[in-house]
Amino acid sequence: MKIFIDSADINEIREVHSWGILDGVTTNPTLIAKTGKKFDTCIREIVELVKGPISVEVISSDWEGMVKEARELAKYGEWITIKIPMSKDGLKAVKILSEEKIKTNMTLVFSPNQAILAAKAGATFVSPFVGRLDDISHFGMEIISDIVQIYKNYNFKTEIIVASVRNPLHVVTAGKLGAHIVTCPYQVLELMIKHPLTDIGIKKFLEDYQKIPK
Ligand code: G3P
Repeated sequence: MKIFIDSADINEIREVHSWGILDGVTTNPTLIAKTGKKFDTCIREIVELVKGPISVEVISSDWEGMVKEARELAKYGEWITIKIPMSKDGLKAVKILSEEKIKTNMTLVFSPNQAILAAKAGATFVSPFVGRLDDISHFGMEIISDIVQIYKNYNFKTEIIVASVRNPLHVVTAGKLGAHIVTCPYQVLELMIKHPLTDIGIKKFLEDYQKIPK
């Protein structure tokens, strides 16, 4: 199971990288805007640190614009993966980029049908958004189960990134279903570390250590 951080904040990325568990990064325009930094500065900082897939999203909505942007973004480095929104133009762009060996991540995916098309077009990754489905009273993880099964049936090579992750339970369910990757906000990664019994255990061991005759 691969773990990506869903963030453009270099401090968060650096911290999680230091834990030795980080396999990649996903960004989007919202996350980059949150940093208050220029786009270029933000991406360069991440590229310098992380040696794993780094998703960066295009903003064009027509395929020609997407492809042009993708070719420019790909120049940031070998790990750059182009995030392309699901649409007719998006599929067309993914197909062209896959033939050029530029890695793609088909994003804003909310149904197994969209995931089938992403794989057929040759996307390197597909990003179903589970949290946003939960927000509108659909079980987001149900589509992960469907996509995992469909991709297995046909041996599709596209890797599933469980995205829009909101809590540690999303991560556990993703793992049980066999999704390749989860991309988590920093707060969720921190929550994964925590367990009250761990804290109690550490406190007790320290207290008992003090009782050992010196
Ligand atoms: O990876 C996609 C993610 O950034 C969307 O998350 O929390 O905005 O639904 P959220």
